[in-house]
Amino acid sequence: MEKKSPLKLIQEFHLSHDETNSKLEKLVKAEMEKSSGLVSKQLHHSNIGGWHSDRELHARLGDGSPMSNALLQLFASFSDPINEYINSCHEKMNVSPSKSYLWDYTGAWFNVSVKGGYNAPHVHPGNQISAAYYVRTEEPTAEYPYSGRIDFIHNNMQYPFYPKPGTLILFPSDMLHWVHPYYGSGIRICLSFNAAHIQPE
Ligand SMILES: [Fe+2]
Repeated sequence: MEKKSPLKLIQEFHLSHDETNSKLEKLVKAEMEKSSGLVSKQLHHSNIGGWHSDRELHARLGDGSPMSNALLQLFASFSDPINEYINSCHEKMNVSPSKSYLWDYTGAWFNVSVKGGYNAPHVHPGNQISAAYYVRTEEPTAEYPYSGRIDFIHNNMQYPFYPKPGTLILFPSDMLHWVHPYYGSGIRICLSFNAAHIQPE
C-alpha cells in the first residue's frame, strides 16, 4: 500500500495580494483600536499576547463594507488552492476525487501578534480544513531565528513553515500546530479560517 507523504497534508500556496494586504492592515489596525486592543482573558483562544477579531468574519462577506470587499478578494483567490488541496487529500477529507468541490466556511478571524506574542499548541475541532493566510509578517532575524515560525506536528514529527505576506497554508483541522514567539518590528496579521461540509460539486 502506498505510503502518502505526510507533507501532502500541509500545503503552502503563494498569492499576490500586496494591495489588498495593505488595505487589510489598515482595517485590522482600526478594528483593534475600536476594541480592547489585547486578547480578552475570558476568551480561550490559542493567541497569547496579541489581538483576536471575532470568529465570524466569513459572515460579513457581501455586507458592502471595506473589510468585506477586501476579504471577498482574498476568499475568491482561496477557491483554487482549496479545490487543489481537497483533490490531493480527498481520502483524509473523506470525499470522492473530483476536480471541484463545495464547502462551507465555518469560521474566519484575524490573529494579530505583537512583539513576543505566540500561539499555543492547538487544533481546530469540528472542521475539516483549516488555513492560515498571512496579511503581514516579517521574516526571522539572526537574533530571533524562529520568529513567527509555524510548526505542525504529525506522527510525532515536526514540520516547520516560515510564512511570508501572501502565503496561504492549508492543513487538516485536527493537525496539532503552534506558532513560535514573533519578534518583527511591526505587528503580524494572520487570517485564519475553517471549512467543513466538503462534497464534490
Ligand atoms: Fe490554528
